[in-house]
Amino acid sequence: MRQATVYIDSKALQYNLNRVKQLAPTAKIVSMVKANAYGHGVKDCLAALAETDAFGVACLEEALEIRALGYQQPITLIEGIFSADEMAVVVENNIEVVVHQQEQLDWLRTQKDAYIAKGLKVWVKLNSGMNRLGFKVPEIIDVIHTLKADGFTCVLAMHFANADAEDHPLNEQQKNQFLDVKEACAPIMASCCNSAAIFKWPELNFDFVRPGIMLYGASPFADKSVIDLDIKPVMTFTAEIIALNHIQAGESVGYGSTFVADTEMNIAIVSIGYGDGYPRAFPKQNYVAINGKATRVIGRVAMDMIAIDVTGLNAPLGTEVELWGKDRLVDDVAEANGTIGYELLCRMSNRPVRKKI
Ligand SMILES: Cc1ncc(COP(=O)(O)O)c(C=O)c1O
Repeated sequence: MRQATVYIDSKALQYNLNRVKQLAPTAKIVSMVKANAYGHGVKDCLAALAETDAFGVACLEEALEIRALGYQQPITLIEGIFSADEMAVVVENNIEVVVHQQEQLDWLRTQKDAYIAKGLKVWVKLNSGMNRLGFKVPEIIDVIHTLKADGFTCVLAMHFANADAEDHPLNEQQKNQFLDVKEACAPIMASCCNSAAIFKWPELNFDFVRPGIMLYGASPFADKSVIDLDIKPVMTFTAEIIALNHIQAGESVGYGSTFVADTEMNIAIVSIGYGDGYPRAFPKQNYVAINGKATRVIGRVAMDMIAIDVTGLNAPLGTEVELWGKDRLVDDVAEANGTIGYELLCRMSNRPVRKKI
């Protein structure tokens, strides 16, 4: 059987959840499990995240999957509902909604008494400069006052555009607007921290924090590794060596013959490719790890195979190669590929076998 495996380390996930608790001890934790738990597999991750206070997802389908698996914690739809008919399903299933535009507000207020009686919590989204979702100042203040006057329980919510960046001028603007609206609408619960903000601004943790990438043991920062942040990679992605070739100087490897050996070398073919979610671009030299030792990927990544340099290594047929995980960090693979760990994790295909450890 082809051995391409994604190991999910539940203990690492729990460790990372505890890191959130250490960093934000007074806030409730809304664990972001959207996009199939950032590609890790929502089922396994929910079990490991049993201690979380709540879950965050991008749409109703993702929320209903959590309910179908039997988890009763509150769930927040971070983009709210997409059509009026979803409102009834939300309320029936004890799901919380973000409201970011007038149409959603109208859907919410048509049967407000019924929804309030069911205890529906509404997260009102501030657009403080990211310009994706939300009401701007001062409109948001009227929206919150109206919802509160109706009797809704509200949470003021915001998302930073540059929480991962050192000293971006928009950070101050976003923080100040959030604090001003919070004050103008007091008393109100508040939530604005993703992973990067949880690390950087403990004073902004407020009532709910919304960690995503840090739970999965990848870094939200380009200049800080998971070791610096004391979080542990949850996913280890491996495949096996299925062929060995000895080549001479001048011989090429793979599609397009982009790699040409400048000396005699041993190469190994590993059964992994872009059909599994391993990226192909690599503007920079990429590496894999064998028994903790880094070795380079050579030539083009194909749909099902890559070639690696095993000259001088003890790497017989069947050797397990780590594509990313604890020895070769997903953030470093992403950097070599001109992307971010988030993307590589989320676009894992279903082809590799999933194993919980
Ligand atoms: C509204 C919102 N909150 C929190 C998060 C989690 O962000 P991160 O994975 O950077 O912690 C996201 C992720 O995209 C988000 O959209």
